[in-house]
Amino acid sequence: MTRLLLTTKAVVAVAAFMAAAMVSAQATNQTTEGLHSLFVASGKLFFGTATETNNFGDSAYQVIVNNKNEFGMFVPENSQKWGPIEPTEGDFQFESPDSIVNRAEGNGQMFRCHALTWHSQLPAFVENGTWTRETLTSAIQTHIATVMGHYKGQCYSWDVVNEALNDNGTFRDSVFFRVLGTDFLPISFKAAEAADPTAKLYYNDFNLETIRNKTDAAVRIVELIRAAGARIDGLGFQAHFRVGGTPSQASLVATMNRFVDMGLEVALSELDIAHNSLPADSRALAQQSTDYVAAVGACLAVPKCVGITLWQFTDKYSWIPSTFPGAGDACLFSANFTKKPAYTAVKNLLTAVATGGGGGNGGNNSSAIQSSGSPPAPVPGTGTLGGTNDPATAALISGVSSISVVGSLLWPLAAGAIISLL
Ligand SMILES: *[C@@H]1O[C@H](CO)[C@@H](O)[C@H](O)[C@H]1NC(C)=O
Ligand SMILES: *[C@@H]1O[C@H](CO)[C@@H](O)[C@H](O)[C@H]1NC(C)=O
Ligand SMILES: *[C@@H]1O[C@H](CO)[C@@H](O)[C@H](O)[C@H]1NC(C)=O
Ligand SMILES: *[C@@H]1O[C@H](CO)[C@@H](O)[C@H](O)[C@H]1NC(C)=O
Ligand SMILES: *[C@@H]1O[C@H](CO)[C@@H](O)[C@H](O)[C@H]1NC(C)=O
Ligand SMILES: *[C@@H]1O[C@H](CO)[C@@H](O)[C@H](O)[C@H]1NC(C)=O
Ligand SMILES: *[C@@H]1O[C@H](CO)[C@@H](O)[C@H](O)[C@H]1NC(C)=O
Repeated sequence: MTRLLLTTKAVVAVAAFMAAAMVSAQATNQTTEGLHSLFVASGKLFFGTATETNNFGDSAYQVIVNNKNEFGMFVPENSQKWGPIEPTEGDFQFESPDSIVNRAEGNGQMFRCHALTWHSQLPAFVENGTWTRETLTSAIQTHIATVMGHYKGQCYSWDVVNEALNDNGTFRDSVFFRVLGTDFLPISFKAAEAADPTAKLYYNDFNLETIRNKTDAAVRIVELIRAAGARIDGLGFQAHFRVGGTPSQASLVATMNRFVDMGLEVALSELDIAHNSLPADSRALAQQSTDYVAAVGACLAVPKCVGITLWQFTDKYSWIPSTFPGAGDACLFSANFTKKPAYTAVKNLLTAVATGGGGGNGGNNSSAIQSSGSPPAPVPGTGTLGGTNDPATAALISGVSSISVVGSLLWPLAAGAIISLL
């Protein structure tokens, strides 16, 4: 009797869930294997991308970025930086990052937060303020408490301090270093730990992958943060590389392991690999594939490398051409959203590793598969999504959202019924 009732419930629930899943698949191609779903199958937590609200109106972009099998993690490219989020003292602008985190949660994607104490994209009141040790300490603490407090529980990790070093390994001449010396590091990490104890706290920088003196200095940063009694959990390798100038997989693995050996997790936090000159010929495209495979393969080969975020996935919105004129086409998708040879190479690597077939020159299936911590449960869909001016995108997104909410409500019901039957 009980058994029959459960069976009926289970059948109804499973049927409803499958119907919802099929509609969802049509709307977003969620059942297609993507970079994120394959990376998770290899034991990693996320394969994600930077994105921004100025991309919300681009419907071709949205179809790709909202597919959580392709990108399981969002990081706001700009809107959580100090300048945009606190342009004048005490005036906090949360609207853009809120709409990005809401979209990630609606899609069932993770969220990485970026960045708190950084010398660049600062508001004038910080960069050109007249500070004492006490007033600047207080300004950092208030900024971190307010911003991290606002996103408490929503960020997998925060880049607490970003780019504190020059390439030669000395400390960068920032307002923070001039006023506080190296104390700005533990001040920031202590404020971060107090504001959201569950977020992983990262130091994030570039060229650590290639410049030995800079890597040595980052090791000393970890030591000095700990010596001051503060907590640090992770090291973000920005991984802004050049085609033909990307370190080998073995070199990247060795560099990441210096921090893993200190008890940290690591991530490739802003991966892109730019051509030095354009247009790229077929040889350059092949080299870009090789370089992406080396970077992704390195993360696969280091059990404590938890994930990868791209610094945008399409050449259409990459920061490279405006910052480094003449260079570019650094992303896995071209400007017209076709998948580049590097995308295919990365996907082939991930498919091989996820299915236990090794990974050619990039994979280390034993480490990739055995190393996995369990991924955290997906963030439940909130259904609240940020605004868009594009009606097609709005329709697509609101359709996807309501479907995925239905799916996430039904799934525990169906799973519970199936488990009761066993
Ligand atoms: C789903 O994928 C197919 C094949 O790649 C593509 O043609 C179609 O436009 C996609 N649909 C959506 C809604 O993204
Ligand atoms: C700080 O002052 C310098 C010199 O006047 C100026 O170039 C810079 O733009 C100012 N910084 C900000 C964030 O306004
Ligand atoms: C690296 O550091 C060493 C010792 O601190 C110094 O002698 C050397 O010049 C540095 N190299 C570079 C390229 O900055
Ligand atoms: C290190 O680099 C910074 C920034 O380029 C420069 O100002 C400084 O003089 C350099 N220090 C050494 C010891 O080379
Ligand atoms: C898309 O862009 C790529 C790279 O620029 C180009 O090779 C391809 O022909 C374009 N495809 C379409 C359909 O425009
Ligand atoms: C992958 O696993 C298979 C079977 O365990 C093994 O034979 C192969 O050498 C592994 N490949 C790599 C790159 O570790
Ligand atoms: C593969 O992973 C194992 C276990 O983590 C490690 O000992 C080994 O060095 C890795 N091999 C390569 C080529 O990275």
